[in-house]
Amino acid sequence: MMPNPFSNRDIISTLDFSKVDIEYLLEVAGRMEDIARQGSRVLANKILASIFLEPSTRTRLSFDAAMKHLGGQVIGFSDWDKSSLKKGETLSDTLKVVQGYSDILVIRSEWEGAARYASEILDIPVINAGSGAQEHPTQSFLDLMTIQRERHRLDGLTVGICGDLTYGRTVHSLLPLLVNYDVKLKLISPQQLKVRREDKMLLESKNVSFEEMEAIDTVIPSLDVLYMTRIQRERFRSEEEFLRVKGYYVLTSSLLKNARKELLVMHPLPRINEIDPSVDVLPQAVYFKQPRYGMLLRMALLGLIFDAF
Ligand code: NCD
Repeated sequence: MMPNPFSNRDIISTLDFSKVDIEYLLEVAGRMEDIARQGSRVLANKILASIFLEPSTRTRLSFDAAMKHLGGQVIGFSDWDKSSLKKGETLSDTLKVVQGYSDILVIRSEWEGAARYASEILDIPVINAGSGAQEHPTQSFLDLMTIQRERHRLDGLTVGICGDLTYGRTVHSLLPLLVNYDVKLKLISPQQLKVRREDKMLLESKNVSFEEMEAIDTVIPSLDVLYMTRIQRERFRSEEEFLRVKGYYVLTSSLLKNARKELLVMHPLPRINEIDPSVDVLPQAVYFKQPRYGMLLRMALLGLIFDAF
């Protein structure tokens, strides 16, 4: 058997992982449903510190649930203004203290590079749960798992990614995973929110077939996956800039009239208005399945980091 590539490893960027690593993770994640149902004690002596300096629902709760399904404990805070950071303590001091109480750190921050920085100053493994507009690797692992579990393959698929391709960290983390597969990408965005230059360079260097476009209606019939994203209001330089693209895309059930039956409509959530609730009842909508896959994926990741399986 291949050695566990996640043993004691930091999870900062999807760029740090090879296709072999990713498939190893997905394979283990595929075995987590039974463990979640039965419960496990493999992390009984471990404490996860969860430090969320930006809003979160799914990511924080699913790390929490994942750790508990494996018998571990969770400490931390998400209301940073009640922590000593509010008094002016540096992030670095806070993290060094938290390290003394825990075996692994999960951190979300608006600062790009915060998770990488934490991994450099701490000895315990660090998981990036979102670093500004930069990366959100565990979201992208679960997105890939969703496609794999719902479509049973990744090769040969046409994947549309729609919305805020500039500031969306889940997009920026998903592309380095998709380039490992034989996919065709349709990058759908307003002019102002096109995919970043470095992402385009990555796609070009890996010879991935991609097309940038603004219209969503004409491309829908050709898609196997449609990954919708929220316009990242909090990352814009000004409110005026945001207002120009607010509500730019609204996916409705009538827009999906000519979609493939097997299309997967995905969204990392939270959605604001980019997917109309009329889509929720369609068989193509899998965005409420993604969070469950996310918890299973995070169980796999935590167990592997601690070499517990
Ligand atoms: C995403 C995030 O925080 O980047 N949410 C999530 O973790 N599922 C997406 C978003 O906020 O738009």
